[in-house]
Amino acid sequence: MADESKDIYYVQGIPVPETPLPGKEPAAWKQTNVVGKRLPRVDAYERVSGAAIYPSDVHLPNMLYGAVLRCPHPHARVRGVDAIAASRMPGVRALISAATPEADLIWKKDAAGETRLFDPHCRFEGEAVAAVAAETPYQARDALAAIRVAYEVLPFVADERKALQPGSPAVHSKGNLAKTDSYERGDVAKGFAEADVVLEETYRTECELHTPLEPHGCVANWEGRSLTIWESSQGVYAIQSKVAEVLTLPLARVRVVGPYMGGGFGSKLEAGKYTVIAALLAGQSARPVKLLLTREETYLAVGNRPPGNMTLKAGVKRDGTLTALEFTCLATGGAYPAGGTALVDWLIRDLYTCPNVRTTCTDVFTHAGPARPFRAPGHPQGAWALEQMMDALAEAIGMDPVELRLKNVPLVSQAREGRPAYTSTGFKECLEQGAAAFGWEKARRETGANAAKGHIRRGVGMAGGLWVVGGGRPPSTVIVKLFADGSVNLNMGASDLGTGTKTVMAMVVAEELGIKPEAIVVENADTGTTQYATPSGGSKTVPTEAPATRNAAVQVKQKLLEMAAEALKTDLAELSYEGREIVSRRDASQRIAVKDLDALKRQGVVVGVGTRGPNPKDKVVNPFAAQFCEVEVNTKTGELKILRFVAAHDSGRVMNRLTYDSQVFGGITMGIGLALTEARVLDAGQTGKMVNRNWHDYKLPTALDVPADMISVPVEPGDTEANNTGAKGLGEPVTIPTAAAIANAVYHATGLRITRTPMHPLQLVKRLAASRKEG
Ligand code: MOS
Repeated sequence: MADESKDIYYVQGIPVPETPLPGKEPAAWKQTNVVGKRLPRVDAYERVSGAAIYPSDVHLPNMLYGAVLRCPHPHARVRGVDAIAASRMPGVRALISAATPEADLIWKKDAAGETRLFDPHCRFEGEAVAAVAAETPYQARDALAAIRVAYEVLPFVADERKALQPGSPAVHSKGNLAKTDSYERGDVAKGFAEADVVLEETYRTECELHTPLEPHGCVANWEGRSLTIWESSQGVYAIQSKVAEVLTLPLARVRVVGPYMGGGFGSKLEAGKYTVIAALLAGQSARPVKLLLTREETYLAVGNRPPGNMTLKAGVKRDGTLTALEFTCLATGGAYPAGGTALVDWLIRDLYTCPNVRTTCTDVFTHAGPARPFRAPGHPQGAWALEQMMDALAEAIGMDPVELRLKNVPLVSQAREGRPAYTSTGFKECLEQGAAAFGWEKARRETGANAAKGHIRRGVGMAGGLWVVGGGRPPSTVIVKLFADGSVNLNMGASDLGTGTKTVMAMVVAEELGIKPEAIVVENADTGTTQYATPSGGSKTVPTEAPATRNAAVQVKQKLLEMAAEALKTDLAELSYEGREIVSRRDASQRIAVKDLDALKRQGVVVGVGTRGPNPKDKVVNPFAAQFCEVEVNTKTGELKILRFVAAHDSGRVMNRLTYDSQVFGGITMGIGLALTEARVLDAGQTGKMVNRNWHDYKLPTALDVPADMISVPVEPGDTEANNTGAKGLGEPVTIPTAAAIANAVYHATGLRITRTPMHPLQLVKRLAASRKEG
């Protein structure tokens, strides 16, 4: 833990470079003293010692435990609930169900219709039907088992490929077509006519589950008419507004707290029914209620990356010019999509220069758990198709895959109105610097199916990507307080998803005020005490909050300079802020320590309120990526080992090299999961139920699946337009190209084009055996 008795200043007589004039946005940093360094988290001690209180650690006196009864069928109607025996079970203090008045609370109204908190029409396995609160978690589970529900079991459709077939059971009354999105530019037929090579392929990615380490859930407690919720969440304000809406409470009566949370990846951007259920149980029992989902419940009911069924037709000239791309996608958000099905075609629209593009994405309802945004929604699926296609095109025209991509690097966003330029694009540099760090040309020559002898084959592959959101956005407000002793408090509403947000913000304040990051106390993610923030997600947290944080710190600095000008009876413009002291540039003997400022002592605290400015007009902020990997395939067993990865990312300025690299390695790990092991398996034929609803059967990548040899190559374009910190966002781009890069390496090693995830040994060994028969 930081020894707070020690000197808090890092600046020893080195002037902090920029002291902007009052009221002005600070210019881009020319050099930095703290930002960009490899620094451990400001809350590392709390995290590793167990002192950090996550929502699942919250324990209130007199607290009850809630549990939710869930529909075991993919499609059923609740005809009756008999909860009399359950309500008399030992320890049971509250019970709500489809047969109590709470059931009729409106949960959601959207294009598909209106759903209730306990909707008698259950459209996926895992829909909430009843809930109890009891003295112990075991008593709560026992009570659930005693609730008798009469279900009318209905026919279902769990496979999105069958949802639009005639005679398929309807998920919602309007039918199973949720929506169709089309996009077109240029003339695709003309583009294909101009091509020297046209290829077409079908691809599929399986449904992937978010699997945050901390399950979803909360503790809810009423004090009078006011409700406090400790929720494992990506955005406390989003939870507050949803709970207030469903329970018709004023926002000011709902406080949501969640400064620590154990991962979300998009599945904790909004409140779940469990949040409202906990509040209702707490109200009925007049006791605090803790309601944490089991792993099984998180797998059934709170989100997934939907499966992608894609076709891509592409035309290219011999010189590598792309002439046309035509893409279709069929996806499903389950019965109640909450985002997450869109953007599968974004890379096809925008990653490479191509005049003629047409995409059609169809989204259908199925009797399956809801999709939610999942780390770079749509993009890893789109990359799986596009980046394998680029690999195949390169081979077809006899060009190196990196070369083909370099040939088509875009400088403008072609898919956006008016084709705006990017504030910066480091895609070319990602490809070049990544290839150099990997030793691409040599590795490509020395490995591959042609170079192979025996049954152990090596291959190398690569893939590119961009992330559509990038760059953050208003609103964001951050408050920085400097107390009379020089210590600092940083107050912001944003959640730290475990990515190091708090640390980066402390580094920004440290940069401006000349103090050590660990001397800054960060307060965050509490609607009762911290500033408004949009949920942390979309890789926008740092580029949203850091500029506001910087503005707040700069304001504090300006106020201190004003105080010093008054104390030294000199002109503000002559003063230089040096952290510990404020010094006259004209006469170095004219100086005053910050702690000696009379005005500061009198006032007790200096407060800076920073807000985030608008994004640049007529320009787009997007991060770019290129990843390279080497694999080894055992052609007898189908075993696939990933030997190494190089990830070159342009996410703008690197704010903290340590947490930056952690994001890169974590993103690759998640991409390896999509490529090799992860797939939700539904028994779509007979029962519609999920069959692998636990960590034994749903296989996450572990240390044995992830290479120790991973290298992060940051590409820093020096973006001065994106925002006043130059950061563009990293958390999602890092998982976009990964799976496709692996598939391309497998192709290089074996000559087999694997178009379906997961590439587990069973699939590989079958394909390898079949290719031997053919060959
Ligand atoms: Mo993200 S999928 O916006 O957490």
